[in-house]
Amino acid sequence: MNQKIDRRNLLKSGLMALGGIAVAPHLTAGAFENTPLAMDPESRIYRSPMVREHFLPADFKAPKIIAKLSANENPYGPPMSAQKAVAESVKNGNRYAWKEMYDLIDKIAKKEGVTADHIMMGPGSSDLLEKVALVTFMKGGNIVSADPCYMSLVSVAKSVGATWKPVPCTADWSHDLKAMEAAIDKDTKLVYVCNPNNPTGAITKGQDLLDFCSRVSEKVPVFVDEAYIELAVGADTQSMVSLLAQKKNVIIARTFSKIMGMAGIRVGYIAAQPEFLEGINKITRGGMGISYTSIFAASASLDDKDFQGNTRKLNHEAKTYLYENLDKMGYKYIPSYTNFVLFPISIPGKELLGKMTAKGIAVRSFDIQSKPWCRVSIGTMDEMKAFVGALSALS
Ligand SMILES: Cc1ncc(COP(=O)(O)O)c(C=O)c1O
Repeated sequence: MNQKIDRRNLLKSGLMALGGIAVAPHLTAGAFENTPLAMDPESRIYRSPMVREHFLPADFKAPKIIAKLSANENPYGPPMSAQKAVAESVKNGNRYAWKEMYDLIDKIAKKEGVTADHIMMGPGSSDLLEKVALVTFMKGGNIVSADPCYMSLVSVAKSVGATWKPVPCTADWSHDLKAMEAAIDKDTKLVYVCNPNNPTGAITKGQDLLDFCSRVSEKVPVFVDEAYIELAVGADTQSMVSLLAQKKNVIIARTFSKIMGMAGIRVGYIAAQPEFLEGINKITRGGMGISYTSIFAASASLDDKDFQGNTRKLNHEAKTYLYENLDKMGYKYIPSYTNFVLFPISIPGKELLGKMTAKGIAVRSFDIQSKPWCRVSIGTMDEMKAFVGALSALS
């Protein structure tokens, strides 16, 4: 049966409290609140030719969630330095924060080695992914990206009329850069790359991506989403931001939601050529959605190298523990350079969701190439122990 469900219904349903799919509403639908979710005939959310996502029925009765491992959040944040900055700055919240935002932009520009006119801030990188999609695809065109990939930019592009050209990942789940380049045609307006990628956690090698971006951006802008790059411990990859100094038409998105532990405080930015940002600014108000307190939290967390280092270390330790236990149970996971791990499971995805949720563990479940998979975020060590316990009870 083709179940009709829209974003509003999902949000209203108890699934929000479960930390189930509705916890990441930006992942659940097209651009607009009332856009019905694309469902397939088996009542799965249609994400892409390769990916369908399971969700639980709205009336599913679940206990209190003890481990929310569904939205790739940082369980250690927000850093104390950012909490203090919010508390201290809130008294000035009657003012717009233009000057303060430009101070933050100066700081970020210095960190990225570019001038301030290369940076645009937003309330989370989602806002900027969506703005870029809206402005770029207002008059149609097509977007090339990997499949699977993070769907926020692609979904909005499709919603305003773009055609999506999905290019299957390679056997090791990295981007098939050759095939992506071949997919570009005269109507291509943007190439989207997510590195490390979500939902796979896989990386595309730095030098290969650098060569690709350098060459391809001569023809069409390349948007590289680096939401997880600071967590890519030991990865053979790097930020593409260095290409801006070479005048390449690349757009790099970064977020404070992952390594900085501020998903609910909402800060992100893009680094791009000033002319590209001018195009976004002509139609939207870059930076307008970010709050006074968030700006101070972002500035404090940028300086808080201890918090970032600790997150990286604890994420690595908890992921290593998960790997060891998945190995013991015979699960074959995709090596992850992020704070989540994707692995194939041997029971149907909806059954996994139901059984894990009934034990208070929120995860995500997809059918990829028609086989069931679980995506689990890396929580604290205690949360990973709870997850491993619940998973081992399944087999
Ligand atoms: C790849 C990727 N990009 C962007 C985002 C959006 O992050 P935010 O809007 O919180 O900055 C996410 C969130 O999970 C993500 O996984």
